Amino acid sequence: MKITVESGDIAANSAKAIIVNLFQGVKSPGGATGAIDKALDGGLSALIKEGELKGKRGEMHVVHTLGKISTPRVLVAGLGKQDEFSVDVIRNLTGTALRRARALGATSVATILHGAGIAGLDAEPCAQAIAEGAVMGAYRFRKYKAGGEDAGVDIASLSIVESDKSKINAIKRGIERGTILGQAANHTRDLANEPANGLPPAELAKRAKALATDAGLTCEIFDEKQIKSMGMGALMGVGIGSAQPPRFIVIKYRGNAKAKSTLGLLGKGITFDSGGISIKPAAGMEAMKGDMSGAAAVIATMWAIGKLKPKINVTCLVPTAENMPSGTATRPGDVIKAMNGKSIEVINTDAEGRLILADAICYAKQEGLSPIIDVATLTGAMQIALGPGATGFFATTDEIADGLTAAGAKSGERMWRFPLIEEYGENLKSNVADIKNTGNRFGGAISAASFLHFFVEDTPWAHIDMAGTDDSDKEKGVFVKGSTGIPTRTLVNYVLARA
Ligand code: BES
Ligand code: MN
Ligand code: ZN
Repeated sequence: MKITVESGDIAANSAKAIIVNLFQGVKSPGGATGAIDKALDGGLSALIKEGELKGKRGEMHVVHTLGKISTPRVLVAGLGKQDEFSVDVIRNLTGTALRRARALGATSVATILHGAGIAGLDAEPCAQAIAEGAVMGAYRFRKYKAGGEDAGVDIASLSIVESDKSKINAIKRGIERGTILGQAANHTRDLANEPANGLPPAELAKRAKALATDAGLTCEIFDEKQIKSMGMGALMGVGIGSAQPPRFIVIKYRGNAKAKSTLGLLGKGITFDSGGISIKPAAGMEAMKGDMSGAAAVIATMWAIGKLKPKINVTCLVPTAENMPSGTATRPGDVIKAMNGKSIEVINTDAEGRLILADAICYAKQEGLSPIIDVATLTGAMQIALGPGATGFFATTDEIADGLTAAGAKSGERMWRFPLIEEYGENLKSNVADIKNTGNRFGGAISAASFLHFFVEDTPWAHIDMAGTDDSDKEKGVFVKGSTGIPTRTLVNYVLARA
C-alpha cells in the first residue's frame, strides 16, 4: 500500500472509498465531513437525524453515493466524545476503515486528516497515526494460505487529502514516521506469527540479520559452539533438548559517537516452549510458537531505529533456543552455570525464559550496556494479572518507568508498572546452587523479575513481561487476530524520546 498526501478537495476525490468522521453528538457536520454532506445533498445529516449515524467511537458506517460524487462510497468513522479524543482514536479508526474498505473491494482509499479539524491537533501526529493505523490495520499473515476468502483485493493506495497547503509538509513527515512504526510492528508480527517449524533459532537469527542489513545495521550471530565457549550454560541448558541448536544474536546501532552509554534491548527468543521435561498441558500449547515475541519486538525496534536514525547508541541482544523434552534435555534438579559463573538449580524446565535472559543480561553487563531493558513473554502469572489490556513491567528507576509509560501511551500500548519486591527473592534460594529458577507460586511475575534482578545487580534496568499482550484473539482497530506487535512501537518511541 502506497500512502501519499494530496492537496485538494475530498468531495471531488474519485478513490474507491473515502473516509470522513463524526464526533458523537454532532448534528450537522462541518469541515471536510460537512463538505461531503453538502455534496450528498445533506445525506449524512439526514442519517444523523434518523439516528443511524451516532458518531460513537468504533462506529464505521458505509454510505453509498449512487453517482452524486466521484467516489462510490463514503465510510463515516465515529470519533466518540470530543473530550476523550486522541491520536489513538485516529490510528484505530483508520485500521478498521481500511479492513472494511478492503472487504468491499475498494483498491484505492482517500481520507481526510482526522484530528486536525475541530479536535485541533497538529497535522504531523495526525498523519502519523493514519499511516500507522493503515499499515497495521491492513496487516495479514497469509504466507501459508493458498487462497480462500482472504485472497481478494489488497488496497494499493491510501491518500490523505488536505485543502490547506501549509500542512502538506508536516503530513509528509507524519506519513514517513507512521509508516516505519507500522512496518516495524508488522515485522514483529511476521516473526511471531511464523510457526515454530518455520522459525527455529537459526532461522530467527537469519531473519534478524536480514532486517538489520535492510536498516543498515551490523548483526553478529553466535552458534552453539560459540555460545558454549562464551560460558552461556543457561542458554545451552535450555536448548540442549532440541534438535535445533540455540543462537545468540547481537545487533548494533550507533547514532551518537559522543554518548557515554549504550542502551541494551534484550528479547526472549524461545521459538517454541513445550515446557521441556516439565511439559505443558496440550490445550493451547500452539500459542507457544509466539514465545519469541520479545525477541521479535527488539529486532523490529532495531530495524525502525536504523531507518529513523536517532542520536543514540543501542545494542540489541537475543538469546534464542527451542525448549523441548528429549533424552538430552535438562532435567528438573539439574544445575547449570550462567556466563557470570553463577550456578542455577533448574526446578522447573518450563521457567526457561529467565534462564536464557540470565545469560543475555551477563553479556549486556560485560559490554557495559546501560540501562538494560529486557522484553519477554515470561509468565502466565502476568497474563492472569493484567489480561490483554495492558503490558506489565518492572523498573529500578522512576526515570525509566516514566519513560516507558509515556512511550506506551503515545503508541496506544498501555504499560503498567509492577513492584520489585525484594523479599520474594528469598524463595529463590537453592540448597545446592547459587539460585533456583522457580520459587513460590504466588506473585509469579514478580518472582520471575527477582530472578532476573539477581543477574542484573545494580545496573539500571527494566523488565517488560508481555505474556498477556503478545497476541490477540480478535480484530480491533490496529490489531488483527494473531501477533499484536506489542511493544515494538513503545520501544521505538522510548528510544526516540531518550535520544
Ligand atoms: N512462555 C511461558 C509464559 C507464557 C504463558 C507466555 C502464557 C505467554 C502465555 C513461560 O516460559 C512459562 O512457561 N512460565 C511458567 C513459569 C512457571 C513454571 C514458574 C508459567 O508462567 O507458568
Ligand atoms: Mn516456559
Ligand atoms: Zn516460555
